Amino acid sequence: MHPELIKLEQTLAKSVLTKINDPFLNDHQVNLWIKRDDLLHPIISGNKWRKLKYNLDYALSLGTDTIISMGGTYSNHLHALAYTGKMLGLKTIGIIRGERTSPLTPTQQDMEKWGMELRFISRSAYREYRNYNHHGDLPGIEPNQYWLPEGGANKLALKGIAELVDEIDIPYDALCVACGTGATLAGLINTLPKQQSVLGFAALKSASFLASDVQSLLFGEFNNWEIFLDYHFGGFAKLKPELALFMNQFEQKTSIPLEPVYTGKMLYGIYDLIAKGYFKPGQRIIALHTGGLQGKRGFV
Ligand SMILES: Cc1ncc(COP(=O)(O)O)c(C=O)c1O
Repeated sequence: MHPELIKLEQTLAKSVLTKINDPFLNDHQVNLWIKRDDLLHPIISGNKWRKLKYNLDYALSLGTDTIISMGGTYSNHLHALAYTGKMLGLKTIGIIRGERTSPLTPTQQDMEKWGMELRFISRSAYREYRNYNHHGDLPGIEPNQYWLPEGGANKLALKGIAELVDEIDIPYDALCVACGTGATLAGLINTLPKQQSVLGFAALKSASFLASDVQSLLFGEFNNWEIFLDYHFGGFAKLKPELALFMNQFEQKTSIPLEPVYTGKMLYGIYDLIAKGYFKPGQRIIALHTGGLQGKRGFV
């Protein structure tokens, strides 16, 4: 790995497993742990570091000096990329869906502060960018530039995700994760032994596209995974009172912070599945905390 990335990785904290003590779980005879990737770093937290790491390493090995990527108004991915770019001395360009607002969102203010060039484009133009997946694909891209698709979701991202599975040192039956692009889920499916299941919880409404997107990132045939599409709570940027209440109660019980776009929905879904008897008595569940807590600022 590039020495600058090694240096950066050395500043990260450990992602521990936190066991959840909750009478509800005892009543249903299941065990739940949270893998705390949110603790890795205040900014490059959760799956962000995992997905960026090998992409940045490859980009640096190509002599890249500029990383270009895309994201929404509160994008955790662009936020982490802007910060990492600053730390590594790389120029970053963020292509953002929608118009520039005044003031910028707190997420975008951070990104500009860290030197990212923000380019605002229409929703239809944004959709076009989704067609480019390979690092050199983007029309007009220069040899010194590296393109990262939305959410950093490509095959190199999967390699970083695989590493988190290796860190889990307890036996378990199911590993759960929130899904945006589904790349993190795909990385887990590729890595987990087939007797363990991988459960994805879609953050977006109408996310039936996810199954084929995930399939396209898999290295083989797997039938140990499932995606739940009904815990989106109205879509990406919505905060329904029912979800807010669940998150507050969970945070009070556990002192683990959640955010409403990804991790809140996933944990709501896990609790709902437990209540409905989806998990067998004695089963051991691990939920991946994919960070993204900065995005909470969009909801205050
Ligand atoms: C906090 C958080 N959790 C989960 C995800 C979903 O990751 P993926 O796009 O790999 O499905 C994202 C989006 O990148 C995210 O920001």
